[in-house]
Amino acid sequence: MFKKFKNIAVIGSQWGDEGKGKIVDLLSKDADYVVRFQGGDNAGHTVSINGVRVAFHSVPSGIIHENTINVLGNGVVLNPSRLLKEISYLKQHSLMRGKLRISERAHVITTHHIELDRRSPISNKIGTTGHGIGYAYVDKVGRRGIRVIDLLEQGKDEDIKRLEEYICDTSALLQEGLEENKKILFEGAQGTMLDIDFGTYPFVTSSTTTVGGLFSGAGVRVRDLFVLGVAKGYVTRVGNGPLPTELKDELGKLLRRRGNEFGATTGRPRRCGWLDLVALKYAASVNGLDGLALLKLDVLSGFEEVKVAVAYKVDDERIMRFPSSIKILERVNPEYKVFPGWGDIRGIDSYEALPKEVKDYIEFVEDFTKVKVILIGNGPNRKDIIYKPT
Ligand code: GDP
Ligand code: IMO
Ligand code: MG
Repeated sequence: MFKKFKNIAVIGSQWGDEGKGKIVDLLSKDADYVVRFQGGDNAGHTVSINGVRVAFHSVPSGIIHENTINVLGNGVVLNPSRLLKEISYLKQHSLMRGKLRISERAHVITTHHIELDRRSPISNKIGTTGHGIGYAYVDKVGRRGIRVIDLLEQGKDEDIKRLEEYICDTSALLQEGLEENKKILFEGAQGTMLDIDFGTYPFVTSSTTTVGGLFSGAGVRVRDLFVLGVAKGYVTRVGNGPLPTELKDELGKLLRRRGNEFGATTGRPRRCGWLDLVALKYAASVNGLDGLALLKLDVLSGFEEVKVAVAYKVDDERIMRFPSSIKILERVNPEYKVFPGWGDIRGIDSYEALPKEVKDYIEFVEDFTKVKVILIGNGPNRKDIIYKPT
């Protein structure tokens, strides 16, 4: 299905942790380059192979595939010592099979950034990962940051010297690749609702997580690009900030338990709620999504009814467009459409074989968002994916 598209962007369409790692793993076997273009080791992308889970933080999830060149683009922020630890873990487990390349223009996260992130009241209010991401970007934009090339030229930092074999001009590398008709897979981190411009500001991360970040964060003008949004059949959020469909009751706890919703980076419990189609439709429009991967539908198995938010109500007003105002977002009451639940769907390997209730649910998501669902997740493992015929 994807063979006809040269380049693909995998973009989180909710509040992060949608299952991007699993989708990148699936698609990277056909990719020449797998590229991270924003964020840093705040990301935690899980790939599950035969029950063995690996969480990637800085290294692109495509590294498991032998023929891939995995790029940390200029738009990422990089913690050299944590990256070295990740590389050594991957090598130890024979998972570093592809090549790694690091942009000399990427900015470096220092211990000072991490200290600031851990101590600052703003970080505490947002509930950041504490990895210094925001403060590294603050210094970058403030024109006092330090880039990989600068640190290398200073010649004093042992960690950056150990990474030297991977460092190059990745923008030039990718441009050459495009000239040779190579396929690039862009691995977005975080999600649309955490985007610095389009997310629930100030409860966001400090980078452009939406598709627009790709041009500046990788330094390439990609032409033939399929934008694939990743979403779960429900929503989760780690940290603070509005989550209109949050379930603060037993149902929310059940979703967390069944979906194993604990952060891959910090281990924090994720807040859980019903699928928010107002937010998903907004993500579809901001990113111009060409298709959706709708994952974790197995987690909803066994619920008597499954709800999806189709509008928000504030006072007497009915809102259909995701609001910019945090004050409004904190007061909205979702209006739900209720679907009958479904039984166990694990192990099903074709769209036709899915229960009618699941198909009705998926088709409603398509009609509402005006985006076709092309991949369906029914389990954590690599093989637990169903292609929906288009
Ligand atoms: P990412 O940050 O977007 O890569 O997502 P995370 O890895 O942080 O969280 C997604 C979690 O859901 C991981 O533990 C995946 O293994 C798991 N997962 C992905 N797809 C499915 C699915 O269809 N069903 C179930 N049960 N788990 C899934
Ligand atoms: P992946 O790529 C979910 C959240 C943090 C916090 C906010 C800002 O695995 O989907 P930061 O440390 O970035 O300054 O924190 O963003 N956050 C994520 N939530 N998934 C992620 O990444 C996240 N990366 C950051 O919890 O609320
Ligand atoms: Mg994650």
